[in-house]
This record gives sequence, C-alpha cells and structure tokens, in this order.
Amino acid sequence: MPASQSSPDHLAGQTQPVFKPRIFSGIQPSGGLTLGNYLGALKRFVEKQDEGIETVYCLVDLHAITVWQDPAKLRQQTREAAAGFIAAGIDPARSILFNQSQVSAHAELGWIFNCVARMGWMSRMTQFKDKAGKNSENVSLGLFAYPSLMAADILVYQATMVPVGEDQKQHLELARDIAMKFNNDFGVNFFPIVEPIIEGAATRVMSLRDGTMKMSKSDPSDQSRINLTDDADTISKKIRKAKTDAEPLPDTVEALRDRPEARNLVNIYAALAGHTPAQVIADYAGAQFGTFKPALADLAVAKLSPITSEMSRLMKDPGEIDRILGEGADRADAIARPILDQVHDITGMIRSRGR
Ligand code: AMP
Ligand code: TRP
Repeated sequence: MPASQSSPDHLAGQTQPVFKPRIFSGIQPSGGLTLGNYLGALKRFVEKQDEGIETVYCLVDLHAITVWQDPAKLRQQTREAAAGFIAAGIDPARSILFNQSQVSAHAELGWIFNCVARMGWMSRMTQFKDKAGKNSENVSLGLFAYPSLMAADILVYQATMVPVGEDQKQHLELARDIAMKFNNDFGVNFFPIVEPIIEGAATRVMSLRDGTMKMSKSDPSDQSRINLTDDADTISKKIRKAKTDAEPLPDTVEALRDRPEARNLVNIYAALAGHTPAQVIADYAGAQFGTFKPALADLAVAKLSPITSEMSRLMKDPGEIDRILGEGADRADAIARPILDQVHDITGMIRSRGR
C-alpha cells in the first residue's frame, strides 16, 4: 500500500511504510543568492536532480517575511532567485520549482504543526536566538514558529531527503521530532523521518571578512560575500581583498584547523573545483596568498560568470519566470493537497466539500 493512502485504521500494528524517495529543499528570497547558498545548497540541488530522484525546490517567501521585506523588493528577489536556480542548472521540466505562497498547503500544515511542536523545542533553536538577539519580545511570532513551517514545507510532500547547508541541521532535527510526535500522537506512520543531506567541501562557507562568521545575504558588508549577481571584476576584487593570515598554505588539511580564513578559501576552492580540500592542499602547499588568491579568483569567475550572465538574461523576461513558478506551483499542489487532505482526516477535521 503506498504511504499516501495510509490512515490510522489501515496502519494499526504495521511497521514504517516505505516512502517514495523525494527531495525537498528551500531558499529564502530575502536577498540575492550568495556563494554560500550556491556551494552549500544550490549546487547540491542540481546534482540531486541529475541523479534522477524526484526533486521539489521552493523559494520560501513566507519564511522571508518573518523579518520585514519591502514588497517590491521581495517580488524582485524571488524572481532573481528563480533565475539563479535555473541558471545554475535546475531544469523546471525535471524539478518542480515554485514559490511557497502559491501552494497554500504549506501554511495550512504549518498551522497544524504549530499545534504539535512545543514552545520549549522552538526556544532552543540557535537560529532564532541569533536572529532575535536581545530583542526577543519585539520579533515577529512568525520568526519563532519558523521551523514549524519549515517542517511543513518538507512533510507536506512526504519528502524523505533534504539537501541543506550545515546551519540547517538543527531545524531538520526539529522536523524529525515533529514528524515523530505527529505519528505518535495520532497512532499513524504517516510522515517519514527525513534525512538531511549535508555534503561537499563547503557546507558552511564563511564570511570573506571574518572566518568565524557565516557568509550571509544579511551581512551589512557586501565585501563579506560573493553574490551570484556580482560581475567578474567584483568577484575577483572581493577574493583578492579577503581577510587572511600571513602564513603560506600548509601541507596538511589538519594544519588549517586554527586558521579559519585560510581554511575557508581552501574549502571554497575545493568546492568550486569539485576536489577535496586535501587535493587543493596537495597542489598549493607552501603557496603564499599572493599566488593562491588570484588562482581562486580565476576559478570563481570561471565557474560563476556563466551563471551570472544566464541569470541576467533570464531576468529580462520576468513574465516567463512567473509562468515557470506558476506551473511548478500547480505540480507541487497536486502532490501536497491529497497529503494535506489525509492529515485533515487523521486529525479529525470534517471535509465535506467534495472536491
Ligand atoms: P538561506 O539563504 O538562509 O535561505 O539558506 C538557503 C540554503 O543555503 C540553506 O540550505 C543553507 O544551509 C544554505 N546556506 C546559506 N548560507 C550558507 C553558507 N554560508 N554556507 C553554506 N550553506 C549556506
Ligand atoms: N530555513 C532554510 C534556510 O534559511 C530555508 C527553508 C525553509 C528550507 N523551508 C525549508 C530548507 C525546507 C530546507 C527545507 O536556509
């Protein structure tokens, strides 16, 4: 029996159903895409699509508004992120690509999960603590409930695998806790326990200004990050000006441990080249940054420029981007709606409209 037909009665005493492999992931359109998004997430998204697994990718605009977003900018950034996905290799015919708010099942399941998740679980989320800081009385309620909507994003497709950067690990553990509690509370095996996929040499790309801080689209300094919209000259300058120490590159990866800036540049090089950090160290042991940085800048420009130019070409036709997102949303809705209907049955909601 397919998992999607499960119900409490059918499942009494049964073991975990086999869920169809399905990948879901999301990126907030709260600013331009960065090299961190590309190496930690987007590049993986493309690889998974090319492995032939069903892939569902979402621009999570409802998550973006947990902090203030200017409406016109949000629309522009959502289109730009969609263009970035396509330019990086997401094929809207093979993957489902859409923006979250067009599929209302996310918000609906998010509400149900708000009633499953516990306040204590949410208060332990480090991303919330970081974003709220000392201002926790004044941030939106949505920011607090953010991980519950994220769990809904994934589970409304009964997705089994979620490629993300390392910073999302804790949120995915919470999604597992929500799935388990729901299954337990209602005596069902309805939601899969999702597997995070955190892979590659750059699961945590650091700021170019401070090797102890994550590269982020919300960092006030534009010099701290490489944006997928930066031109070749800007990319090159940012890398050449990146903070480093004065030592040459060592001959082992272990020796990078206490050199966060150097380690970051080596990891970026490795991820862009498709090598391991050890291979990069083997090639550049003893090299000064005066040699390594220009090599990295050339590599970054070679890998990113084709994406940047394809993105700006796609952005000339926003109508076509909106059409792609709409079509993706229709396909997403066709998967999510029947799953949500079953959740309503399981939780005791009357459904008598006969859709
Ligand atoms: P966000 O921009 O916060 O919506 O993140 C979207 C995806 O990019 C998530 O999978 C993040 O883990 C990943 N990501 C964001 N910043 C970085 C970074 N600096 N290094 C690696 N992955 C990142
Ligand atoms: N929280 C993620 C981030 O900021 C974005 C996100 C929202 C997401 N929903 C998701 C990622 C579902 C993976 C799966 O990076």
